[in-house]
Amino acid sequence: MTLDLPRAVFHEMTARQQLPRTPETELVMNGVQTVEDYSSCGEEGGALFGPYLYNALQVSARVAPGNQVIDLGCGSGRLLNLIASWNPEVSFVGTDLAPVMLETARRQAELLGLRNVTYLEADFSRLDDFGLHEADAIMSSMALHHLPDRVSLSRCFSSIVRVLKPSGQLYLMDFGRLRSRQAVEIFVGKVARTETPALSQDYRASLYAAFTPDDFDQEILRLGRMDVALHRSVIAPLLMVACTPAPGPAGQRAVNAFLRAQRQLSAHRRAELAQMRLFLRLGGLGFPL
Ligand SMILES: C[S@@+](CC[C@H](N)C(=O)[O-])C[C@H]1O[C@@H](n2cnc3c(N)ncnc32)[C@H](O)[C@@H]1O
Repeated sequence: MTLDLPRAVFHEMTARQQLPRTPETELVMNGVQTVEDYSSCGEEGGALFGPYLYNALQVSARVAPGNQVIDLGCGSGRLLNLIASWNPEVSFVGTDLAPVMLETARRQAELLGLRNVTYLEADFSRLDDFGLHEADAIMSSMALHHLPDRVSLSRCFSSIVRVLKPSGQLYLMDFGRLRSRQAVEIFVGKVARTETPALSQDYRASLYAAFTPDDFDQEILRLGRMDVALHRSVIAPLLMVACTPAPGPAGQRAVNAFLRAQRQLSAHRRAELAQMRLFLRLGGLGFPL
């Protein structure tokens, strides 16, 4: 057992003030190498695959046959294609501003033979291509921290209010900003022990660019909905999920696909996924199994 967590907690508790935000240098991820590196982290066995399984089951529990679902900042589509394959009777639209990401997502969807997912070049902070109350559900994973500033985050939430049905389902997962630089470096150092330098650097940039739980709480108020809550991982808000409650467990097809994929994870990745489940469960977010 390492002393990482107690050290991080100590720094978080003693930080005098909130760490300032440093926006991502690459807001839209369109470099060919960037896309390739990022996409490979989402392959089976990659560092992002466990979080994708987690998000995929959470989203699956919030959709129903016939629904129209929008993914904000879908990236290379690895997560959205996974969700689409688990929920063939639901229609998904992935939005991103990076054409190279979108091309990668479309190619993979085609390889998988998916007919229920399309990809659209669109700014998710505006959602101009979507009409009033068009979506039954809106989801996002690790993308909101790519917005340049707080004003864009507010615009994004206003767009959600316009496009999402009044009682539509919401699942927005992202990193949360820590209070202290030392805690960020402890968590990045933990990742650096097993992952590539590029991924560790990407993780560091994400943690510095993340919005705070307070930022999210204020935006949730903008939604004017009592049923949307913010859940943050305990000990440190490394992960935050703003969501509606799942009406029940995910459908059997999604549950079976999740359990199959989970069994195939290495012991290390399975432990990471279990930790994510535990830390968010202790933050109030149940897992819909
Ligand atoms: C870190 S990736 C996350 C991708 C995917 N959701 C996942 O979970 O792996 C963030 C994505 O958001 C996209 N992005 C950033 N700002 C955007 C905006 N304003 N509108 C649409 N996409 C945006 C980037 O191009 C990038 O593909």
